[in-house]
Amino acid sequence: MDTSSLWKGTAAKTACLPTLQTDLKVDVAIVGAGITGLTAAMLLVQAGKRVAVLDASKAGDANTGNSTGNLYATVDLGLHTLEELHGLETMRRVVESRSAAIDLIEATVGRLKLDCGFQRVPWHLIGVDAAHVGDIEKEALAAMRARLHADLRDDAPLPIDTALKTLRVEDQAQFQPLAYVRQLAQRIGGEDCLIFENTRVTAIDDAPAVVHTEHGKVACQHIVIATHTPVGIHLVQSQLEVVREYGIAAPLHDSVPEPGAYWCIGRERHSVRAFTEHGRSYLVVIGSAHKLGEQEVGAERFQQLELFARDHFPIGPVEYRWSAQRYRAKDKLPYIGRNVDAENTYVATGFSGDGLTYGTLAGMMLADEILGRGTPWRDLYAVERLAGDKRPRGFERESTGPASPDQAVALGAGEVGKLADLPPCQNRKIEVDGKPVAVYRSQDGRLQAVAGKCSHMGCEIKWNGAETSWDCSCHGSRFAPDGRVLEGPALAPLQTASIDQGA
Ligand code: FES
Repeated sequence: MDTSSLWKGTAAKTACLPTLQTDLKVDVAIVGAGITGLTAAMLLVQAGKRVAVLDASKAGDANTGNSTGNLYATVDLGLHTLEELHGLETMRRVVESRSAAIDLIEATVGRLKLDCGFQRVPWHLIGVDAAHVGDIEKEALAAMRARLHADLRDDAPLPIDTALKTLRVEDQAQFQPLAYVRQLAQRIGGEDCLIFENTRVTAIDDAPAVVHTEHGKVACQHIVIATHTPVGIHLVQSQLEVVREYGIAAPLHDSVPEPGAYWCIGRERHSVRAFTEHGRSYLVVIGSAHKLGEQEVGAERFQQLELFARDHFPIGPVEYRWSAQRYRAKDKLPYIGRNVDAENTYVATGFSGDGLTYGTLAGMMLADEILGRGTPWRDLYAVERLAGDKRPRGFERESTGPASPDQAVALGAGEVGKLADLPPCQNRKIEVDGKPVAVYRSQDGRLQAVAGKCSHMGCEIKWNGAETSWDCSCHGSRFAPDGRVLEGPALAPLQTASIDQGA
């Protein structure tokens, strides 16, 4: 199934940025040209630093371009949960820091004249069955204690008959996230802000600080790893749960909801918004979340979203389907700051479903930290809170070097013969010489076989039929059927198995 987000389909095309082909020396190297990396780059360059930003694909394509476009000071697991876990003061500081991030986006849009549809809108939490009314009421009280402009209503702002209670929070925001990031890259790029696309990082050295890529290396004083979860092996990954979530967008001819974010809480949870551009409106629905790699998944994830959308809105055929990954920290607060073992390396992860706002906040905080400025939220999100913990197995030593490749396996005539009944677009796990091998037959009938263990830290990979990928539930690495890294912390591809083509 072809998957691409509404944001990728509607963002104006921008010129391709170059691929790094030489060695460079800068003050700060930033890995990842999403909202986190580019926000940090913008602020560092403003303060006089020379920066290089390196992205494995195109700016914003990896995660920012697969998000919701919603910006809000609340958090996806609920402010009341955060308050129960960490207390009132922490909840207030989280809201304050996230509000500051939205303010920075608004100011940047105005200053750089970014055409990304940014607007202040209300955010809603809607209870769509009786069982969840109590949660909405609890969240409303927490939002008021967090000093947000919030109120509780008995009416529903969406055509959902079963909706019983709505929490409305004023003065939140929405934009086209990919338009924002692509234009930001174009505006800040220049002699002191070198941005490279299609530049895959292969290894990172901390002392001296050097980022290695396929065709050149970047020597620097500081390294920001802004790749959603840091590439390589890092202690923070032992604290992250990985969730995959799906999105659809379909044209909407009437009943277009007022601009705003709408989270519908019932047996299932859906985030709904409208997006209008050049007179054409789309309904966007996000949901169907599950733990990554927990089970084999297929097209039913998108079908569930479409059923929900059709139940309540007069939509046309679904035009866009996409998915995104969330990393949620066990203590429900992101990790933003200097890495545990590496003096010159900074990470930002654990944003859960709140990544556009937390990503911007991370860019602000990491720039401040590198510039030696105080930041009021440093202790709240510090990675150092992990340092005293006993290290789980496999994380005794952090590493951002190339993984040692698995031993190659070969599928002989016997194995190939046993796979003859495998239909196109289907997968199977087999064992060859005692080693797990993951096999997929493509639509044109070709067999593709790769090592059945993740190249990051060796966990088992599982098939994701909704997106035609092999996924690893341990820390979120995903691979194409030919073994290429699609996302996550793995630096090396899956070893491909040779196949006896004569069989
Ligand atoms: Fe870490 Fe697969 S992502 S073992």
